[in-house]
This record gives sequence, C-alpha cells and structure tokens, in this order.
Amino acid sequence: MPDLFQLMRPIMHLLDGEHAHRMSIQALNLVPFSRNTRLFPLLPVEAFGLSFANPLGLAAGFDKNAEVVAPVLKLGFGFTEVGGVTPLPQPGNPKPRVFRLPKDKAVINRYGLNSAGMDVVRARLEFRKLEQHNRQSGSVGVNIGANKDSPDRVGDYVSLVKGLSDVADYISVNISSPNTPGLRNLQGKAELDALLARVMEAKTTCPILVKIAPDLELSDLDDVIEVAKKRGIDGLIISNTTIARPLNLLETKLSAETGGLSGQPVFVRSTWLLAHTYQRVESAFPLIGVGGIGCADTAWTKICAGATLLQLYTALIYEGPALVGRILHGLEARLKEKGFASLQEAVGCRARKIGKRDWQ
Ligand SMILES: Cc1cc2nc3c(=O)[nH]c(=O)nc-3n(C[C@H](O)[C@H](O)[C@H](O)COP(=O)(O)O)c2cc1C
Repeated sequence: MPDLFQLMRPIMHLLDGEHAHRMSIQALNLVPFSRNTRLFPLLPVEAFGLSFANPLGLAAGFDKNAEVVAPVLKLGFGFTEVGGVTPLPQPGNPKPRVFRLPKDKAVINRYGLNSAGMDVVRARLEFRKLEQHNRQSGSVGVNIGANKDSPDRVGDYVSLVKGLSDVADYISVNISSPNTPGLRNLQGKAELDALLARVMEAKTTCPILVKIAPDLELSDLDDVIEVAKKRGIDGLIISNTTIARPLNLLETKLSAETGGLSGQPVFVRSTWLLAHTYQRVESAFPLIGVGGIGCADTAWTKICAGATLLQLYTALIYEGPALVGRILHGLEARLKEKGFASLQEAVGCRARKIGKRDWQ
C-alpha cells in the first residue's frame, strides 16, 4: 500500500481535492491489503471505558459516510471517527470546496457537512457491528452535526445521539465546524449548557465527547470546561480546523479561500489550546489531540501537551498511509528512550511548558 500511494500521489494531486478523496475511498475499498499486525507493547491506552490498541485515530471528515471503516482500521489506526453525520441527508456547499496548500502541507475545506444522513450511516455501522471479527479490530466514533437548515439544531444533536448510540463506540458532538453558519455559536456558555443538558439526557452508555475550535480564547475555553464538567461529558477533542490564516503561510493565493484550515499550520495553536485544556480539566476526563500531526515528533508533542488519544487527517493526503506505522513506531521509541512504562504515564508531562505563549 505505501508503494502504491507513492506511485499514485502525483496523479491524485493532479485531480482536484474532492476527486482525489473519492479515489482514495474507492482504493481503500478495492485494494485487498492485509491488516497491519505490528504490535506496540507500550501504546495500548484506556479512555472513556474503551480499550485502544494504540492511541492514533483517523479524524472526522475523511470517512464521512462510514464507507471504509474496516480498511481504515487495517492501516493500523487504533480507532476511526466517521462523519460528520447530519440527521437528514444534505449536499453541503457548492464545489469546489476543498483546496490543497502543498507548500504549507495544509488544506482549506468548506464542505459544509455534506452527509448521506443518519439512516445510511446507521445501516452501515449496524452491519459492521454484526461482524464480531471487525468489532475487535478497533473502535469507531461517530461525529455528529446539525442540518444547515434545521429549525432546531439542539433537537438534531439529540436525535443523532438517540439514533446512533447503539452502533457507535463514542459520539463526538461537533460544534466547531466553521462551514455551517452559526454552528460555532453553540460553544458559547449558555448555548453549550442548553445543548449538553439535552444531549446528556439522551445519553445511553455510549460516551459523549465534544469537539472544539482552535480559535477559542482562553476565557471561552474556561466556559466550555466549566459546562463540560458540570454536564459530565466523557471527553473533549481539541481541535477542529481554524478560520485564522497564520501570516507565514506560503500559498498566499489559495489561503484566501473561505473555509477551515487544517494540517501543519494549525499544529501550534491547537497544541497550545490542548495544553491549556489539560491543565484546566484536571483529569476529569481524557482529551483527544488533533490538528497538524504529521510525524512522530508532532504526535509525541500532543501526548506531552495532554492528549490521551490522537487523530490526524490532512497529513495523510501528503504522506500516505505509511505515516500511521511511522508515527506508532516513533511513539513507542520515544516512550522507551525516556523511560516511560506506558503511554498514559507521559500524558501531559510538558503541558505547562507548551501552554506558554512562545513555546515554539
Ligand atoms: C476535508 C476535511 C473535512 C473535515 N470534516 C470534518 C467533519 O465533518 N467534522 C469534524 O468535526 N471535523 C472535520 N474536519 C476536521 C478534522 O477532523 C480535524 O479536526 C482537522 O482537520 C485538524 O486535523 P488535521 O490537521 O490532522 O487535518 C475535516 C477536515 C478536513 C481536512
């Protein structure tokens, strides 16, 4: 598979981002590659009642409609997050809506939660749940979002929790997508409290996580964490894409496109926010660190900043699936080198330092 990706990458990168993405989904479904069975003895982790063979997951947005759950887990990921799923199918924004920024190893997307809808995703995950063999190969989270034209967005999240909890290992409440107008307002204190009150009322045994934006100020973060603790959520995911445009971006023309920026340029901000979250959460629940992971070093820094679990998406576009093994191998090596007996021991070990404004 890695060789195939190196071979295919120049061709795929001639296509526009959305076609290349469709091609990857089809390739994952067609190529009968074998399961990555390498074991990493120091990497298993426990979080919100689930056991993970390793901490690295595929972030939301790649497998929006749960088409490639088993192939993704075969690549070596410890878990995958499908979605964002909306209650009703919706087409998302007009095309083109995804742009590669190769010099920055970044992407800007304004998909706008294009989704096949809850029923389709549910049916696919139901089928998977029946296969005991697949269930053992890794966990599957479901990322949920409200329909763009919904008159009752909170109601949408509640129906998604009710409709998907029995086919998901966890649910991630996406209130940080920049591409659905007004959605990010749900991160405000009163709005979040009202949302989580109803979501937690609908909760079954399936863990509920909340995914936040990297653009939150620390005062907003204080509010989010206060509400999250009060409502007893199971974890936070830090972070989604950013609406900011760092001044050092090299692809200046493309960076003017509207949408959420992901990949290398979001690493510093999202990791800084992760470190602040870790210090404030005081082990009340675990954190998933996501944003700009592209090698073992950046993955390790997220662990040191406070992440128990990790996710990536954009780096896969540039590095291909061999990246998964490289990161796991690198994490295992760092733990050994620094004398940690498990990954859990290293979580947050440099949060204070990374939380300083000039940490990089
Ligand atoms: C094309 C694309 C689509 C995405 N769609 C979603 C989504 O539906 N829901 C969500 O919560 N995050 C979505 N994300 C955000 C990612 O899950 C992740 O939080 C973000 O890209 C930062 O990680 P990265 O730098 O490793 O890509 C999307 C990202 C990209 C690039």
